[in-house]
Amino acid sequence: MSAAQPAGVEHQFADAVLEGAGVRLSPLGPGDVDDVTAGCRDELTQRWLPLPSPYTHDVARAFIEDIAPGMHASGAGIVRRIEVGGRLCGVIDLKKTDWRARTTEIGYWVAPWGRGRGLAGRASKLLADWALSEQGMARVVIHCAVGNMSSQRAAVSAGFTREGVARSAGIVHAGRVDLVVFGKVSSDLDVA
Ligand SMILES: CC(C)(COP(=O)(O)OP(=O)(O)OC[C@H]1O[C@@H](n2cnc3c(N)ncnc32)[C@H](O)[C@@H]1OP(=O)(O)O)[C@@H](O)C(=O)NCCC(=O)NCCS
Repeated sequence: MSAAQPAGVEHQFADAVLEGAGVRLSPLGPGDVDDVTAGCRDELTQRWLPLPSPYTHDVARAFIEDIAPGMHASGAGIVRRIEVGGRLCGVIDLKKTDWRARTTEIGYWVAPWGRGRGLAGRASKLLADWALSEQGMARVVIHCAVGNMSSQRAAVSAGFTREGVARSAGIVHAGRVDLVVFGKVSSDLDVA
C-alpha cells in the first residue's frame, strides 16, 4: 500500500488523464453538472441504465462531488468524462473492481450531442487497454442488455470478445434483462 492511499485501501487506480483516438478521459468537475444532468435525463440513457429518475441537478452534483471521488478513494473504480474538443460528451467508468482477482467492469453513456461517432468504443478501448497494461488488471468486462445493440457494437469495436449471455443478470427501469458479457483480457493486447 502506498503512503498516498487511505487506510484500509490496498489498491487504487492512478488518477490519470488518458488521451488517444480523438478522445480525452479526464476527471469530472463542478462545471459538468449541467451536461451530466442532460446526458442522464436523456430517454435512451434512462432506457438502458437504472439511473435515478427524475435525474436532477442535485443528483448530478452528488455523483460528481461524492460518488465518483468515493469510488476512487475506496479502490472500487474510477470515473472519467469522455471529452472531445473540451466538451463533455459522455461518462465512462471502471467499477466493481476486484484487486485480488484483478478484474474490473466498464460502464458508459454518451450524451445525445456526442452520439454516432463511435465515442463509447474509442473510450472503452483507451480505458480497458490502460487498465490491462498499466494498472495490473487481468480482465475487463462490459455488460450490455441483449437489446442494446449500439452498446454491443461499441464493446466489439473496443476489442472485446462476446463471451455469452448471463440470464436475468441486470435491471433497467422496465424490469430484469439478460446481459451479454463481453470480455477483454491482458493477452488480447498482444494481438491487438
Ligand atoms: C451505447 C452508447 C454509449 C453508444 O454511443 P456511441 O458511442 O455514440 O455509439 P454509436 O452511435 O457511434 O454506435 C456504435 C455502433 O453501434 C451501431 N449502432 C448504433 N445504433 C444501432 C442500432 N440501433 N442497432 C444496431 N447497431 C447500432 C453503430 O452503427 C456503430 O457501429 P460500428 O461500430 O460498427 O460503426 C449510447 O447509445 C448511449 O449512451 N446509450 C444509452 C446508455 C447506454 O446504453 N449505456 C451502455 C449500457 S451497457
